[in-house]
Amino acid sequence: MDKISSIRGMPDVFESDTNYLAELNEVLSKIFLSHNLNEVNTPILEQTELFVRSTGVTSDIVNKEIYSFNDRNEQSLSLRPEGTAGVVRSIIQKKLDNAEHKLWYQGPMFRYERPQKGRFRQFNQAGVELLGFEEGSSDLEIISIVCDIFIELELEDSVLKINHLGDKDTKEKFLLELLKYMKSYKGDLNDNDTEKLNKNPLRLLDSKDVDLKEFLDKIQSIFGKYVEIELDSSLVRGLDYYTGLVFEAVSSNLGAQDSFLGGGRYDGLSKDLGGKEMPAIGFAIGLERLNLIKKHKNIKSNKVISFVTTSSKMNALAFKIAQLLRSHNYDIRLETNFTDASLKAKLRKASKLGAKFVFIMGEEEFESDTITVKSFDEDGYQVNMSFDEILDFYKDI
Ligand code: HAM
Repeated sequence: MDKISSIRGMPDVFESDTNYLAELNEVLSKIFLSHNLNEVNTPILEQTELFVRSTGVTSDIVNKEIYSFNDRNEQSLSLRPEGTAGVVRSIIQKKLDNAEHKLWYQGPMFRYERPQKGRFRQFNQAGVELLGFEEGSSDLEIISIVCDIFIELELEDSVLKINHLGDKDTKEKFLLELLKYMKSYKGDLNDNDTEKLNKNPLRLLDSKDVDLKEFLDKIQSIFGKYVEIELDSSLVRGLDYYTGLVFEAVSSNLGAQDSFLGGGRYDGLSKDLGGKEMPAIGFAIGLERLNLIKKHKNIKSNKVISFVTTSSKMNALAFKIAQLLRSHNYDIRLETNFTDASLKAKLRKASKLGAKFVFIMGEEEFESDTITVKSFDEDGYQVNMSFDEILDFYKDI
């Protein structure tokens, strides 16, 4: 029969590929906790309309990259291409859009892009959203979180580019002026640009408001000693909801897909989604890209112990003891081997696994309620222990 393979751009991730998701989740959640953020989980599937209204009808995400289908009820649903829209939708739905929220999330996102190094169709993001906060301190707080990620994961050869698109009113005024100006050049634009001009002219040009430079300089002066920060007036971002501060982190070690973190302020999104006025700012990091550039090494428990019996008739007792042992120390990888295979084969397997000790339950041990501990160290000692003794021993490994 034909074999079934995974979908292009949607890789399986095994621990042997280094379990970056668990590792990054551990480091990032610690940073997020230290900033007093709360975790939120929103569904992977949402109504397509949510992404049309948030990321924008002209964005590549909605036009070319979204995975949409009709469900059995003929309702158009989409796999989320990003996390911000779902979080804002959920806060509005819970009628919490009149309060402040500091949230973080992690999970898979889906975009129909051409797969290549660092670019997938299913990838993972960790994101932060500060909702209900006006421009000012919250922008600095966001950059401070980004700095902690740079420091903690030892991201070298990385630069944080920042720009300011103007606040919502400035952005609107600016757009009107720009539209008038650009209309006179309409003949020179290609179809794609003409469409952008009609729907979101901001994406054709960057903002050049001089006053805003002060704000960007302030960010640079506070955080510049931790992270290389570059003012980049051409930075506009590919999602339509941004106003104010926008930023992107790039690494020279990533090749063509060099941006691994992106975010900005989106003061108008809540209203666009039918909610109250709720100024907000946030960012997301691509975990696959982060994994390619981080220098930080996880110190994962590599303490392996193999627990073997000499006959499967001891299974009930052996499983009871294994259960107890684990509950005394979850840092140890306890490998159990309770089959009828020979003890010699089991010892060989334990040694191959890199076990520090083997716990052996043979006939004699079974009769006397004991376990023999054999060390695989050079001294190679062997001791017989009561169940209580072995629990204490296990706790202290
Ligand atoms: P974004 O820039 O579209 O922003 O995506 C953020 C990060 O997700 C990128 O910097 C990249 O690392 C990763 N990423 C995007 N597409 C792919 C892909 N096809 N394969 C692998 N990684 C990818 C957002 O998604 C916004 N929601 C960020 C935000 C939060 N803005 C405000 N709050």
